[in-house]
Amino acid sequence: MPVEDQNDRVVVSHPTKKDVKVTILKYGATVISWEANGAEQLWLSSAAKLDGSKAVRGGIPLVFPVFGKQKNPDHPTFKLPQHGFARTSTWEFLGQTTENPVAVQFGLGPENVEPATLSLWGEGKYDFSLILTITLGEDFLESQIEVENTGKDDFEFNWLFHTYYRTPDITDTLVTNLVDQSCYDQLIAEEYKEKSPVISFHEEFDRIYKNVPTDLLIQMVQFGKVLHNVERKNLPDAVVWNPWIKKSQGMGDFEPKEGYKNMLCIEPGHVSEMVKLSPRKKWQGAQKAFLGGEINIQSNIFQ
Ligand code: BG6
Repeated sequence: MPVEDQNDRVVVSHPTKKDVKVTILKYGATVISWEANGAEQLWLSSAAKLDGSKAVRGGIPLVFPVFGKQKNPDHPTFKLPQHGFARTSTWEFLGQTTENPVAVQFGLGPENVEPATLSLWGEGKYDFSLILTITLGEDFLESQIEVENTGKDDFEFNWLFHTYYRTPDITDTLVTNLVDQSCYDQLIAEEYKEKSPVISFHEEFDRIYKNVPTDLLIQMVQFGKVLHNVERKNLPDAVVWNPWIKKSQGMGDFEPKEGYKNMLCIEPGHVSEMVKLSPRKKWQGAQKAFLGGEINIQSNIFQ
């Protein structure tokens, strides 16, 4: 069976390549494993809670309706917890939609969110429907989200796919095609243009690259070999994050403590500005992660 509904999770296998698999936990509709090309492609903490008691540390947690903590006290998302409630609610498994590539869908509406948490967003007045489609190909994993406003009031939201990729060694890992992009550095609370032709990692890193044209492919590269390609649809921003030593030591669910050496989050989203959605309107965004291929330098790195 290419799609197995196993109580708390759904396991999807590629119809012809049996070693290509994705596992989605219903809690948060969090992808917790993507096996392809004979290896695990995502990083998952060995101390991640998979029992619904805490957002999953690793895989692909979903961020909605607010990214981080809302700073504007007058905004309806102000009282919500960090990164909202999509990653801490149990989604409904809606079934399989296509066979090859194989796709499955999950849904989330107000009825699936804990009432106390829901009431923190605009006093609970919003009505919404989220449909997540996960598509597994031989060498790719696509995550697509559709947000529909099914209520009577306009609402504003952020969306983000908080994807934790595996890497053999973060100190040898480079990220391409973000040079010259505007970024907000969350560690120093400053905005500037990225000047590094390729990004390398030697310390804690937490930057929001803003309005990055979606024809720019973000690549994770090691020793001239492409580990991951990240394509975005209608998701203008990309957060790049590694907690490094001190921050990961402070996270109880981050294990092993050396794990920061083997992960990098590249998180396509709509976070520097919120999406405004009127009643009966829909919005969609997607990320497609695929393996291998050539290094594709699309920006002038020799300036
Ligand atoms: C990233 C943010 O997206 O998520 C970081 O840019 C944050 O600032 C990180 O630390 C992890 O957040 P959390 O809530 O999962 O610990």
